Amino acid sequence: MPGAVLAGSVAVITGGASGIGRALAERFAAEGARGVVVADRDGARAAAVADGLACEVRLGLALDVTDSDAVRAAVDRVESEIGEIDLWCSNAGVPTGAGLGEDSDWDLAWRVHVMAHVYAARHVLPRMVERGRGHFMVTASAAGLLTEMDTAPYSVTKHGSVALAEWLAIRHGSSGVGFSCLCPQAVRTPMTAGFGADSATLAAGGLIEPTEVANAVMAALAEGRFLILPHPEVAEYERRRAGDRDRWLAGMRRLRADLDTRREA
Ligand SMILES: NC(=O)c1ccc[n+]([C@@H]2O[C@H](COP(=O)([O-])OP(=O)(O)OC[C@H]3O[C@@H](n4cnc5c(N)ncnc54)[C@H](O)[C@@H]3O)[C@@H](O)[C@H]2O)c1
Repeated sequence: MPGAVLAGSVAVITGGASGIGRALAERFAAEGARGVVVADRDGARAAAVADGLACEVRLGLALDVTDSDAVRAAVDRVESEIGEIDLWCSNAGVPTGAGLGEDSDWDLAWRVHVMAHVYAARHVLPRMVERGRGHFMVTASAAGLLTEMDTAPYSVTKHGSVALAEWLAIRHGSSGVGFSCLCPQAVRTPMTAGFGADSATLAAGGLIEPTEVANAVMAALAEGRFLILPHPEVAEYERRRAGDRDRWLAGMRRLRADLDTRREA
């Protein structure tokens, strides 16, 4: 969907029952999408969010994005009942695993932040590629470009989300299908609501609203841009990291030490 206009389109948003996904669903409906599908493992909340959308066709779907067969069935159902999917936002995510985490944290983070995007790509992309149009967006995180110092499973798997989105954009970007990778820092959602003031995510500063993320997504879709940075300063942080890795690591160690001091105080 390069130079995207939402008018008349069909959009699916996973993790759409809350936070960023909900803001995207509401914005797409307000921009004139014909059909908006709110897919979430919490089917009741997905239905409630869908019910409030101002579009012609709305559907709340109970969907676990880590279940490949369920993702295939959801794609089949949306395309047969509502119409061809123009925009798939692979957005569901989990805040999992403090520190190095347990094996179960790694397993969950890998399945939600990497395999879920693989399943979505397997089931929805061939249809878009065959039609020569559509847009596939992955919600990663600034943690996937930089790091999130509180949790290794989250940071490492979000790097995986970014890498997969890049791979897909290279492999299929000439097909007429557009690709985007959304990489916010802190956003005020239920995910960050439980974080203390000493959290590394909040310490990074700039807690923004989900509606601001939706603004950034709309602008990027209109421009057909891959990387979506609702916090523009992340581009500079990424440049610094790439430019002098040792200096960047030293700066991050200082920030880590500051946070530890704050925690002990
Ligand atoms: N909030 C932030 O500061 C922030 C920053 C960067 C990236 N992100 C990313 O943005 C995305 C949305 O996060 P949010 O802050 O809106 O969180 P949120 O907790 O408000 O919403 C996440 C939604 O994903 C759903 N979900 C989780 N696992 C699922 C699964 N297996 N199948 C289907 N749905 C599932 C949850 O039920 C929830 O409704 C996530 O990928 C998150 O990692 C968030």
